[in-house]
Amino acid sequence: DVGKSGYDHFMLKEIYEQPQAVRQATRGRVSELDGTIELTAFPTAMRNELDRVQFVGCGTSYYATRYGAALLRERGVPAQAFVASEYGTERVPTEDGTVVVGVTQSGETADTLAALRDANGAGATTLAVTNVVGSSAARECDAAVYVRAGPEISVAATKSFASQQVTLATIASALADGTDRPFLESIRDLPAQVQRVLDRSNARDVAEELVGADAYFFIGRGYQHPVALEGALKMKEITYEHAEGFPAGELKHGPLALVTDRTPVVALVTGGDDLVEKTLSNVREVEARGAPVVAVTDDPDGVDGVADHVLEVPETHRYLVPVLTNVQLQLLAYWTANLLDRPIDKPRNLAKSVTVE
Ligand code: G6P
Repeated sequence: DVGKSGYDHFMLKEIYEQPQAVRQATRGRVSELDGTIELTAFPTAMRNELDRVQFVGCGTSYYATRYGAALLRERGVPAQAFVASEYGTERVPTEDGTVVVGVTQSGETADTLAALRDANGAGATTLAVTNVVGSSAARECDAAVYVRAGPEISVAATKSFASQQVTLATIASALADGTDRPFLESIRDLPAQVQRVLDRSNARDVAEELVGADAYFFIGRGYQHPVALEGALKMKEITYEHAEGFPAGELKHGPLALVTDRTPVVALVTGGDDLVEKTLSNVREVEARGAPVVAVTDDPDGVDGVADHVLEVPETHRYLVPVLTNVQLQLLAYWTANLLDRPIDKPRNLAKSVTVE
């Protein structure tokens, strides 16, 4: 029990360390000078040469790359995310001006290291976004940005994902024209908002209502799609229950066949009127099949009468909403696994760091 600081599991402790983790991710890096963002640690080589970005990562870190690539595309930077183990086989062209970003908590994942080596061999500029100073990924790359989540013991990644999200959002913001006051203000407020989610979350009650389900489905659109994937991954890793994440719009193209009154659907209902309306129409489709609906939202009134359960998050900059919604999904997975009496910190068959390809 040493090191758990009174928590039953390292995973719960690490979930509760997220206010501090997200604060550390930007400390001393984002300065507010006339409303400009200066990401001081951001590699200048990358800033000057950047024509396109290719992200590589595995597991939870891969979902962070999906989110990072979407943010960069919104900033007008062509960006793609690859599962690291597929990067070599997909023979991705790396012309001049390609920066390959390896996102890896440990910095030791063999698949990610292999992809970064391929990229280096092809002449790309490489950047490691990692939690471990001096890790193999940091040494393999031309530059490294550390996410500063602090040590993560639980096999299932939690706070390192939040730190990756914040780091990638800050990089995306810095790459724009460097002026994004609303983002700066939201970054400043984020630790307190994460704390608010932790203090007020009813995920434990929702887990009690839903435990014993046949399967759990997670749906989201836009920036919430990677969160849906991560929510499902967390659920399957630590509960051993069947869980899958989908883009909300894909549900009707197959997964809907699996939906019954024994398959809760967790819907990420955020992202502006257009996305919310479309997601709510997908929610109505599962509701008509009797599925219990959990809405994770910053607008509880908007899901009134549609959702059976609501997991609320405060409003923030659209880049950062996925940090808050993900905390609710971590807690939902944690409490479900707890009710099932699973060995939460060390799930069967899984390793914290996978050093074979
Ligand atoms: C393993 C862990 C996951 C992690 C993945 C990538 O599969 O169990 O939690 O997301 O490796 O690890 P990395 O250290 O590269 O982020």
